[in-house]
Amino acid sequence: MPAALIDGKAISAAVRQQVTADTAEFVAATGVTPHLAAVLVGDDPASQVYVRNKERACEKCGLKSTLHRLPADTTQDQLAQLVADLNADDSVHGILVQLPLPAHLNAEPILDAILPAKDVDGFHPDNVGRMLQGRPRFLPCTPHGVMKMLEHEGIETSGKHAVVIGRSDIVGKPMGALLIQRGADATVTICHSRTADIGAITRQADILVAAVGIPEFVKGDMVKPGAVVIDVGINRVNDRLVGDVDFEAASQTASAITPVPGGVGPMTIAMLLNNTLEAARLASGTTD
Ligand code: GUN
Repeated sequence: MPAALIDGKAISAAVRQQVTADTAEFVAATGVTPHLAAVLVGDDPASQVYVRNKERACEKCGLKSTLHRLPADTTQDQLAQLVADLNADDSVHGILVQLPLPAHLNAEPILDAILPAKDVDGFHPDNVGRMLQGRPRFLPCTPHGVMKMLEHEGIETSGKHAVVIGRSDIVGKPMGALLIQRGADATVTICHSRTADIGAITRQADILVAAVGIPEFVKGDMVKPGAVVIDVGINRVNDRLVGDVDFEAASQTASAITPVPGGVGPMTIAMLLNNTLEAARLASGTTD
């Protein structure tokens, strides 16, 4: 029997509906509209699409968003100055610097300079440390979105073997961290480009998360029968979007699988909206 589809569009719509209702309540109580400032440097086409989608999603939920577009030849100092200005602006609750930055810019000091209380991406070392210690402020949006999907679908993680392919700071590492937290209680293996005999490991996965950035890297014979397969990849191949999983083959073996597009992607944006509202709550003192 082919795998059940995990519908990220529907699950993200439910999250966005909740954020919309909670935002309306917050605005009525405080008179403050949660405000996301997005920074886009250069003209990478994929980043332009992502940032536009984030802006639209904010507006639909009643959040304010401001896009700061900087030219591709922006200097490190100019970008740092914009972050400092946004940090100092009390009307801005969340700051997002779209990655990747042009090659001449160093992302690390820029991301480190964002105030942790405005770091709605959850990339600041302070927020990463808090997540690891199980006392999160902002969780990174993509792995948080995956956890939300598993929860929504009633997929048990406790005692299961979760295998994550990919060790990026944005997805792979935090994904592993969230799956081993108390409450999630999975046993986690993280695979990467130097992992030997990766198929032997992925075939042990009850939950397989692919975040490797290689189109259709996960073949059907790498999936254990009955596994849940979460595909974080978004790759453009001949004008078609494909994930990191060979969807046709894997869906013959898996019990449930996320499609691309319409799987994890919409969840990432929904969790960003959620974090922006949380940032406004933090600033207003309505949460601790
Ligand atoms: N580029 C790809 N994914 C992300 C993300 O989640 N946040 C930011 N800021 N940039 C990205």
